[in-house]
Amino acid sequence: MEIWAHRGCSYRYPENTISSFRAACEYEITGIEFDVQLSRDGELVVIHDEKVDRTTNGTGNVCDMTLDELKQLRMIPNKNTGLLYETIPTLREVLSVLAPECREKGILLNIELKNSVVRYEGMEQKLLAVIHEFGLERFVIYSSFNPESVRLLKQLEPEVKTGILAASLKHCLEINREIEADALHPYIHQLDVPDIRQHTVLPIRVWNLRKNEPFFPEESAIEKYNLEELEQEGITDVFTNCPENYVKKRLYRTEPDMIFTAGKRINEENGFAESADAESFATLLFSKAEAGSRLHWKSTEYGYQIYIYTLETEERLIYTYCYQEEENWASYSREKSVPALSREDYTFGESCYFRLVVQPVGDNRRGGLPGASELLEFFAPRERAYVSPSYFQAELMLTAETVKDIRKADDLVFILLSDSHYVNNGTWEDTAYNILELSGQVGPDAVIHLGDLTDGMLPIALTKEYAGRVLHSLKQTGAPVYVCLGNHDSNYFRNNPEKMTETEMSGFYLEREKPYYYVDYPRQKLRVLFLYSFDYREKVRYGFPKEEVEWVESTLAQTEDGWSVLVFSHVPPLPEIHYWSDEIRNGEELMRVLEAYHAGEGHTVLGYIHGHNHAEQIYTERAFPIVSVGCNKLEDFKDKKPEGSLTFDRKRHTVTQDLWDVLVVSGDKQRMSFIRFGAGEDRIVEC
Ligand code: G3P
Ligand code: CA
Repeated sequence: MEIWAHRGCSYRYPENTISSFRAACEYEITGIEFDVQLSRDGELVVIHDEKVDRTTNGTGNVCDMTLDELKQLRMIPNKNTGLLYETIPTLREVLSVLAPECREKGILLNIELKNSVVRYEGMEQKLLAVIHEFGLERFVIYSSFNPESVRLLKQLEPEVKTGILAASLKHCLEINREIEADALHPYIHQLDVPDIRQHTVLPIRVWNLRKNEPFFPEESAIEKYNLEELEQEGITDVFTNCPENYVKKRLYRTEPDMIFTAGKRINEENGFAESADAESFATLLFSKAEAGSRLHWKSTEYGYQIYIYTLETEERLIYTYCYQEEENWASYSREKSVPALSREDYTFGESCYFRLVVQPVGDNRRGGLPGASELLEFFAPRERAYVSPSYFQAELMLTAETVKDIRKADDLVFILLSDSHYVNNGTWEDTAYNILELSGQVGPDAVIHLGDLTDGMLPIALTKEYAGRVLHSLKQTGAPVYVCLGNHDSNYFRNNPEKMTETEMSGFYLEREKPYYYVDYPRQKLRVLFLYSFDYREKVRYGFPKEEVEWVESTLAQTEDGWSVLVFSHVPPLPEIHYWSDEIRNGEELMRVLEAYHAGEGHTVLGYIHGHNHAEQIYTERAFPIVSVGCNKLEDFKDKKPEGSLTFDRKRHTVTQDLWDVLVVSGDKQRMSFIRFGAGEDRIVEC
């Protein structure tokens, strides 16, 4: 049975829209059906009714409105894509999206000319011309409830394929005796010609009524066809609002990028990786599978077990001070896992994360586990482009406007964030998109991350993978990325045996030799210091090495008069604004050096900006303001915070899910404006 998407995937998306057509292309459909009408000024537009009332926020006849007027209207809100509203698409817009899909996947188009109520003179000629323009002749079938229109299309171009639309099969046959079309398109519940195959060899494509096949956003149940029965009745094709019910997603072969670690297995009770004998291999990183994906096992020497982790996140992980083992926010699902050693293919019913354990099944294996691509093949739907939810779109607009409003020619603009604590299935993807999008609009001078890119509890290779994802996203902005090392970045947390040395950290995170450094902005006469504020080998772990304080002193001494200095670190410099220790190693010494410099003629420290506290604070008890930046990770635990600091409420799937700043340092160095994206508020600090 051939399955057609009727007005696109119109059960899940507004009918006859680009999003409903895009969704249809993701499935193994035969084709897409859609309807065309003509605007007052003669533009072919894709809309079913002669009036705009049912599907848009407007009223009136399509034929009475110009394209401009039609384009003012918005389709009903589309909750699935996050797009607020789409407009009525023109035929050309639709074909620009669908033409490559037709060519690549062989998707056919059934264009229904809606010209039985309003005749739309000249519509046929216009339509044929547009199809030629796109070179889509071999993919299109034309149909209409108006037999004269079908006849005219054939007269104009005898080689086109046509279909007769009518309310019953009998009627289709009658019309076809005169018109000689290429297919019959009857109503599914009026198949009133017994033994139809005695009468015609033409394809018979059936359609349904709205009451049995609802359209988005109606959520009433949809009639499910018995395809076998229909086939026995001689039906060849079905138009349906929900092709998802009948055909699978299109799958594409992807390279499995899994790395198997020897001597590991997954604990069946809790889903955590644990040690095993050398012949057991496990993927420690979580692979993501879209619903419908298929894992094809190739190896005869090895079998695999699959462990499934759902996309659900336990609330306690988000909203409390809790480090999840293995830095993972996906829920382990024991019931959905297949712990038996298998060599069968596995199809993923729902989108999820998974890990594999591989073990030998026979004695005839060669030495060493072959690479992933020799063991298995992976087939997955094409990844959908990230769609920014509306609450972030609005925040992006607002933040960009605020920055553009206050920004003067010589101002410096930094994207500033801290404590991302990347977790699998966390919210980094949203943050990364938001930062990239805003950077595109404001063109920052740099992106500054104040440390703790991950929790630092994993084997080094995995920590580097996760931290690498954070760094990679930030580098995508095209701006220089400056990082201050955070305590977790040393991979020391919870007695992690795979700690990173200072040199290793500097190389990996900073691409520098030393963990502290400075960057100059000569035009603004600003020197920016990025400091290192933690050492797990020290008794007082939070603080600054002596050599670093000396380096700060000599760096300041070498800073030209009339320049200003701005300082960043992960940990704050003073114990009174730090919850986790009563002492900050060499903190006072560092402050003394900075304050002495600040007191000097023609010298200014604009401020000291840090992360680590997962709280907001502007501390003004010292010679210059010390500003704490809240936690980028979605987390809102309120305890264990320095006195006087503030922690904002956060909630997933709202704008407060994200938190970072655009820091605008005014060219005259009188002011630092922290323009907040997400939870919290803008802060202006006078210097
Ligand atoms: O072309 C098949 C079908 O779409 C005809 O009915 O009202 O859904 O356009 P309708
Ligand atoms: Ca139609």
